[in-house]
Amino acid sequence: MKFRLWAVLLGVAVVGPTQAQAAERWTHGAVASVHPLATEAGVRVLKEGGNAVDAAIATAITLGIVDGHDSGLGGGCFILIRAADGSVTAIDARETAPALAKRDMFLKDGKVDEEASKTGALAVATPGALAGYQLALEKLGRRKLADLLQPAAQLAEEGFPIDEVYARKYAMTTDKLARFESSKKILLHADGSALKQGEILKQPELAATLRAIGERGIDWFYKGEFAEKVDAWMRANGGVLRKEDFAAYAPKLREPLRTKYRGYDIIGFPPPSSGGVHVAEILNMLDGFDVPHLSLVDRTHVIAESMKLAFADRAFWLGDPDFVPVPRSLIDPGYAKSLAAKIDLKKAIPVPAHGEPPNAKTEIFGDFGKHTTHLSAADADGNWVAITQTINTAFGSKVIVPGTGVILNDEMDDFAVAPGVPNAFKLVGAEANAVAPLKRPLSSMSPTIVLKDGNPILSVGAAGGPTIITQTLLAIVGVIDLKLDIGTALARPRIHQQWSPDQLKIEEAFGEDILKELEARGHRLDKQKRFGACQGVMWDAASQSFQAAHDPRVPGGAGGW
Ligand code: DON
Repeated sequence: MKFRLWAVLLGVAVVGPTQAQAAERWTHGAVASVHPLATEAGVRVLKEGGNAVDAAIATAITLGIVDGHDSGLGGGCFILIRAADGSVTAIDARETAPALAKRDMFLKDGKVDEEASKTGALAVATPGALAGYQLALEKLGRRKLADLLQPAAQLAEEGFPIDEVYARKYAMTTDKLARFESSKKILLHADGSALKQGEILKQPELAATLRAIGERGIDWFYKGEFAEKVDAWMRANGGVLRKEDFAAYAPKLREPLRTKYRGYDIIGFPPPSSGGVHVAEILNMLDGFDVPHLSLVDRTHVIAESMKLAFADRAFWLGDPDFVPVPRSLIDPGYAKSLAAKIDLKKAIPVPAHGEPPNAKTEIFGDFGKHTTHLSAADADGNWVAITQTINTAFGSKVIVPGTGVILNDEMDDFAVAPGVPNAFKLVGAEANAVAPLKRPLSSMSPTIVLKDGNPILSVGAAGGPTIITQTLLAIVGVIDLKLDIGTALARPRIHQQWSPDQLKIEEAFGEDILKELEARGHRLDKQKRFGACQGVMWDAASQSFQAAHDPRVPGGAGGW
């Protein structure tokens, strides 16, 4: 890569939340992600004859290099694909608790060790992303995984300039990264300081890992040298992750979650994501309100109250559907109506506890008993993809096992480590999301595809812990209710209410008047300059073309041809 191109890439401005990108339009296909180099990798694959699935996986792999603090081979993902033949596939490549994990593994002398689920050996769950990529390509792609890994390996080896977001994440995590010899060697300067914006990060060990997978297949990772290296490091450093966990890992095909909103079909990701359930639950509540014609303050109030009611349900009912019964009626329009009836237009209501969806014990997701970063892509054949992938918090567990270059996740923190104890995102959980061997931690990742009259019109999703759910929801409301293009929808000011803590996270761009009115209605405001990172690709019927947009709050890339 030439220096001049880097300079251009670094020039991607971080604009305020109200400045939408100028909509570009493409007819063959489009990709949106949080990094221009990752989007470029996807667009190149489209131009070379790959479909949207190939493009999305190339983008996902590249994000693991240029946005490695967010996601990568050491993490997991949810992949939602609406194929050209109209079928929909949901691949759950979520990380899984090791077989030796124990319910009370994060308790020390009867007290919760809040650090242990976030940093170091015990924080790591078995990674799933790579197996998910392979399955997506085998089922619906045209290209081989090895072909997509090769340019990614080259990029990891040659390096790329650190952008503003990467530099900020470095600054936040330098001390913790320095605790792990290999992370320190690869990610920090020799004197232990973090790389600054514009400095080049080269990852030769990660390049070697990508090449080894390309040459020997994913078994090298799950059943070979990679798993053995991780096993040895974990044994020496108090971890419980073993090579047997890698060997046993398999992505799961889930039944996509389908609901309706004002005549559109909303296809979401089912548990162990909570995203699809709660996007649908909130939309179902909003269906009873004339959202497009409410004043801005009324609309914001109603959406915030719907979020609060849905997140109260999340904290109680949601967990891995292979371990706990998750009621299907959480997405029932009748149940949503009963919740929406509680909303008072004049003031924020107290929500002391979760709701009681009907038939909660009998109508459940999956076959119980029997068994952050988001990218979107689409092509002219009708393949639409939404992938949200993560290693959880910035740089995951901060651990790179020597000789691998792969940053391992801290997804164990997405479990409720003890009832009522908040996780990194201040989310509380109950029995449904307690730690158990081989269980998948509850996620908020919400890859979503929206159809109108059977045709896909939107692929969207976000990063940012529980705000993923609400950012995705607001993007859908922007497109469907406010008739906005995706770039404008993403630029609108955001709110987020997650029940506990009972406060309304809100972007200041709403303006003082609205903030004051919401406060007067009883909302406790947590004012933010900006939050979130939501990406989307949309079909614009009027111009018969794709529009793609990355969140204007963070650097990113939207492209097509
Ligand atoms: O699966 C989840 O819900 C979390 N692990 C997502 C983490 C996240 O979005 C971090 N990003 N900013």
